[in-house]
Amino acid sequence: MIENTSITITIDGPSSSGKSTLGEQLAHNIGYHFLDTGCLYRALTVATLQRNIPITDTHAIIKLASDIDIVVQTSAVEDVRQYTVLIDEIDITWELRSSRTDSNVSLISTIPEVRHLLTEQMRSIADGVNIVMIGRDIGTVVAPEAPLKFYLDASIDERARRRHNENMQSGQESDYKEILTNLQTRDDIDTRRDNAPLRKPINAYTIDTTTMKPTKVLIEMLRIFHTVI
Ligand code: DC
Repeated sequence: MIENTSITITIDGPSSSGKSTLGEQLAHNIGYHFLDTGCLYRALTVATLQRNIPITDTHAIIKLASDIDIVVQTSAVEDVRQYTVLIDEIDITWELRSSRTDSNVSLISTIPEVRHLLTEQMRSIADGVNIVMIGRDIGTVVAPEAPLKFYLDASIDERARRRHNENMQSGQESDYKEILTNLQTRDDIDTRRDNAPLRKPINAYTIDTTTMKPTKVLIEMLRIFHTVI
């Protein structure tokens, strides 16, 4: 049993490995807050694209990151959103997952100054509360002292298939091959960047979700939670 006033549980892994669904369900089951840290990088990407800042203009993106106010709220609207994200009080939630955002977010997240600013914001959101945080560097960099860390993985074909199905279910146009190529590029950027690359934290519980139903993964995560915390 861990005696602590506030506990962070970290879930890292590549895109579409199940972090978002499982992270939210785990948080809901154990009464913790939930933060999808990717939405901060996505929000900054949306702001960059909206202002027509070239994706290569690192200085302008760093300035933008320190000027804008990104707020993540638990969803207040009756829809399928896990949360609402505001930039300077304007709701941009639906733009977070556009294919334009998908194609540019990994590159923006390689900028060290951007990572520094957003990491500070993540830590302040987690401060003093029990929280499940999902991302790429949560167990390694954002919250290395977390008492419980998960690493979710799945084959790239399965991850592309999940993303494709999600798109189709929400009525968006979707091309499986394009998704697969996009995932490969993002995996590559996320794992090869110098600053806080995607890595399995040394002491993380790894779950390969390729052939597992989400309910089975959740049961396993809850079992581990009740053993460790
Ligand atoms: O989890 P996601 O697909 O929404 O993340 C979008 C991008 O943000 C991803 O390509 C890498 C980056 N990211 C990151 O570098 N560190 C995090 N903690 C979360 C996301």
